[in-house]
Amino acid sequence: MTDQCTCVLGLETSCDETAAAVVVRDTIGKGRILSNVVRSQWDEHRAYGGVVPEIAARAHVDCLDVLISEALRVAGCTLEALDGVAATAGPGLNSGLIVGTVTGKTLALAHNKPYLAINHLEAHALTVGLTDGLAPPYLLLLVSGGHTQLLFVKGVGDYVRLGTTIDDALGEAFDKTAKLLGLGFPGGPEVAKHAARGDGSSYALPRPMTGRPEPHFSFAGLKTAVRQLAKSLEPLNDQTLADICASFEMAVTETVIDRVHAALQMADLYWPDDVPRHLVVAGGVAANVRLRQALEELAASLNYRLKVPPASLCTDNGAMIAWAGAERLHLGLLDPLDFAVRPRWPLDPDAPAAIGAGVKA
Ligand code: KG4
Ligand code: ZN
Repeated sequence: MTDQCTCVLGLETSCDETAAAVVVRDTIGKGRILSNVVRSQWDEHRAYGGVVPEIAARAHVDCLDVLISEALRVAGCTLEALDGVAATAGPGLNSGLIVGTVTGKTLALAHNKPYLAINHLEAHALTVGLTDGLAPPYLLLLVSGGHTQLLFVKGVGDYVRLGTTIDDALGEAFDKTAKLLGLGFPGGPEVAKHAARGDGSSYALPRPMTGRPEPHFSFAGLKTAVRQLAKSLEPLNDQTLADICASFEMAVTETVIDRVHAALQMADLYWPDDVPRHLVVAGGVAANVRLRQALEELAASLNYRLKVPPASLCTDNGAMIAWAGAERLHLGLLDPLDFAVRPRWPLDPDAPAAIGAGVKA
């Protein structure tokens, strides 16, 4: 463990954002973003309505070096001045992970710097330390395009998974719903935009898994219900489309609130005494305004404090990777250069499989 001020370069290539950032962790553990450069690949994937792994990997190769130069230039920092190089090593798309980790390892080797293999989910989980100075413990709702989990964050590298999805992730449900309604990609912001003009009580959609004590999720059935509803209402005019989106968003929001409530009850035994209880939301879907408002209300009603990093740091970015790297470097948790990428990499490897769960971590 070190009390030095550390400066870390973070690389993110696990999915459809290529990102590089430089973050400083000061002697009292506060973080500062010196640069945070993100290039989204949405234009490359839009025609396919989803992320194509081969296209993603090629796009990472095309621009990662330029983004690293830009991140260093904006930060006013050289490779020599870094204290470590962090890169996402999983979970995510294999070929994309290889692009980022090989680049990170090469820079670390060439400049004789520590290398840090970062779990993308851990980076989302720890972002609130960078943005709000909040240290564990806290309860985390992680809602992204690839993952939907409720975790009790005990410390860096120490997670208890309380709930997970047995099929689609929440962001994936937004994306698939947008696609079947003929909306753009990524679907979350598109559905939210149309929902803002609609009435969420227009159509009764299922609230899957609600009422169960274990805080697991399932969104595949909801997506199918939207498909059947949309078919029955064809041709869709603008208002019907808005009402479907609003009804979907309301179903999702009420479902998540029920599941978070169950997780808060389950987490009771993990809280140390005299620690203010925080509920943290991370991942791209945390940008959803309706969901955020409902979580605010839930937290307030149960005496929890809600923390949600700014939207630009909830979606995939390099700063969260650099910060997770700085936190791990501080604890001396360095990784060898032969660390292999892990397309599947659960934060809590001991968590029992959720009944009915598919292959998601
Ligand atoms: O964390 P993230 O950037 O990437 C992954 O690690 O998956 O999350 C991206 C996901 C996408 O599914 C996107 O549709 C969703 O976050 N998203 C939203 C909103 N903004 C992004 N979902 C609902 N409402 C939004 N405003
Ligand atoms: Zn993510």
